[in-house]
Amino acid sequence: MAEQRLQKVLAAAGIDSRRKCEELILSGEVRVNRKVVDELPAFVDPEKDIITVYGKKIRAAQKVYFLLNKPKGVICTNRDPRGRKKAIDIVHTNERIFCVGRLDADTTGLIILTNDSELTNRLTHPRYGIAKTYVVRINGEIAGEQVVKLKKGVWLAEGKTGRASVKILKRRHTESSIEITIRQGLNRQVRRILARVGLSVKSLTRTSLGKLTVRGLGVGKSRTLTRVEVAHLKKITSD
Ligand code: URA
Repeated sequence: MAEQRLQKVLAAAGIDSRRKCEELILSGEVRVNRKVVDELPAFVDPEKDIITVYGKKIRAAQKVYFLLNKPKGVICTNRDPRGRKKAIDIVHTNERIFCVGRLDADTTGLIILTNDSELTNRLTHPRYGIAKTYVVRINGEIAGEQVVKLKKGVWLAEGKTGRASVKILKRRHTESSIEITIRQGLNRQVRRILARVGLSVKSLTRTSLGKLTVRGLGVGKSRTLTRVEVAHLKKITSD
């Protein structure tokens, strides 16, 4: 595991806030591998180093992984000056978790929450190209040429988007729905690529990420990931 700031590791172990942990370090009460560390910055490997506070070994922060079927109106950041409901408030845990990537407030569906920042960085890094599938309800009838454009990728401000897989689920005069899989994670990507080909979104739901799906999980419900699911996420983000 990569080295982390000592105060971050102490805070993750539930000692105190990061700022208070900094003070604790400077006061000389923290030892790493028996040696007092009273200067900052200080870096440790929480999986290898033995860290003590007031002579007592700290408890390693338990890695936790949840899958939430996010409802509409819930946001994926840990702080919101507007006081909207947050995804982290729906999941019951004592660990300090955060969302892996983001879904818009208006988007429903699969979001992973964890305290594993290394896996989070990997899952959101473009080099791994993790497949994310969405079901989109669209106003009006989708045309064949719009599907072709979506499949090839379209130009956005950031450049041309990668190819998408598109399956038409329903095509009516008043409403259509498609299943679309993309491997990038640009901000509001699905809404923007659909707008680029002239389609307006009625609703957007993420149904899967890698092999993980929201199947069987009601909107607003969460569950812990199984060991197999965590192993899968680690496998698809290994070099
Ligand atoms: N694309 C979007 O436009 N919104 C999301 O929430 C996720 C992907």
